[in-house]
Amino acid sequence: MSQQQQQNGVSHRGKVLTLDNMNPNVKRVEYAVRGPIFLRAVEIEKELREGVKKPFTEVLKANIGDAQAMGQKPLTFFRQVLALCSYPELMEDSKFPVDVKQRAQRILSACGGHSIGAYSSSQGIECIRQDVARYIETRDGGTPSSPDNIFLSTGASDAIVTMLKLLMSGEGHDRTGVMIPIPQYPLYSAALADLGGVQINYYLNEDKCWALDIAELRRAISAARQNCSPRVLCIINPGNPTGQVQTRQCIEDVIRFAKEERLFLLADEVYQGNVYSEGSEFHSFKKVLFEMGPEYSSTVELASFHSTSKCYMGECGFRGGYMEVINLDPMVKAQLLKLVSVRLCPPVPGQALLDLVVNPPQPDEPSHATFMKEKTEVLAALAEKARLTEQTFNTVPGITCNPVQGAMYTFPRITIPQKAIDKAKELGQIPDMYYCMRLLNEEGICLVPGSGFGQREGTFHFRMTILPPTEKLKIVLQRIREFHLRFTQEFS
Ligand SMILES: Cc1ncc(COP(=O)(O)O)c(C=O)c1O
Repeated sequence: MSQQQQQNGVSHRGKVLTLDNMNPNVKRVEYAVRGPIFLRAVEIEKELREGVKKPFTEVLKANIGDAQAMGQKPLTFFRQVLALCSYPELMEDSKFPVDVKQRAQRILSACGGHSIGAYSSSQGIECIRQDVARYIETRDGGTPSSPDNIFLSTGASDAIVTMLKLLMSGEGHDRTGVMIPIPQYPLYSAALADLGGVQINYYLNEDKCWALDIAELRRAISAARQNCSPRVLCIINPGNPTGQVQTRQCIEDVIRFAKEERLFLLADEVYQGNVYSEGSEFHSFKKVLFEMGPEYSSTVELASFHSTSKCYMGECGFRGGYMEVINLDPMVKAQLLKLVSVRLCPPVPGQALLDLVVNPPQPDEPSHATFMKEKTEVLAALAEKARLTEQTFNTVPGITCNPVQGAMYTFPRITIPQKAIDKAKELGQIPDMYYCMRLLNEEGICLVPGSGFGQREGTFHFRMTILPPTEKLKIVLQRIREFHLRFTQEFS
């Protein structure tokens, strides 16, 4: 017996926790964004560092919506305030503008022991929740928002999973069914697998720029009623991976549908600041709900989510976010508060960052000009890259791409020749996984196969972020073009 086996004293009996007896729900969880293609990309990077010769010198990653990992610079104001919050001795430093110091002081005085190293209340720091409520009111043209309905969170992911957990109940045919868009952001399918919920797919309409079709919602819900109890409808707007921005009319129709069918609405609005197409505009579910009058605004239950990870901020690592709940039963709200209390609180630096996002420098403050310049530059670059991506892909025979109206992704449809499909089957691979793996190995481009997000049977896609810097994005697009033509030729 090895020394280590003797030390832990259990190996001779075998492991207590094995693949056979571990939580089966966890085994069902899949998350393609960091799946096999990504893992292979990490391996290739290591091989390149070790001097292995490849047809490329670096792996270009366009698989994940992580802006700063792709070179986007954090905004000066955010980092200055966070620096002072972390190390208050810097308050004496004359390099920091006075409004930065005031913000840091305000945040620190709301923290236990004046330190961002202290736990906060579980719902989040009160003055930050007040700022979030004011932000929502301004965003929604005056629709009232109460800090009591705001829950700060560890990124949006945490709040989404928490809400789904609250909504899970029943056995067999009574299990909670959750309607999710296909293609979807795989957090939803993963959380449902983990929590034992029933996933109800509704398909977005690719031919209409990934619009949400009420007839399709009706089809999906009536089919699902045979094996579960549909209680939740999730909407991602602007969309990931599909980059669409839903119209106001569509949102109104969805709310009407939710009321008719007695569904709890989950509105994932983390890309609310990422809208590029002319004629597209972000409408929050909360605003539209209140504009539809008390018949809706006092009955339909809604939780909506926002995050510091996206928009112009890209501050994914801080794990900041919030959820606003509307018409939640007060007794359930108490249960929600209990549930979030178990995990003590969201990270306080993330809460501080969220505060700056919802309460940016005002025009009469010294940091305003730089803040606006930096914010505008990031958003203008994203808008430019959204256009460039759509235009380039649509010049490649066998690739069709909807406009990237918003968010940070494109989800083009690719024609994969039958012989390539057969080859993939022979290798036991899904055809778009085979395509993306070949693209990675041959061109060093890391994307995510469409199958990781769901797609209509018989269609193939990939998801690409528009986040690489413009010059690198041009290279990525050019290499995908060359690969696609070569791949098609090889199998024709
Ligand atoms: C639609 C959508 N929702 C939620 C998230 C989670 O974001 P975070 O937990 O970083 O706030 C993402 C991340 O990519 C996303 O695309």
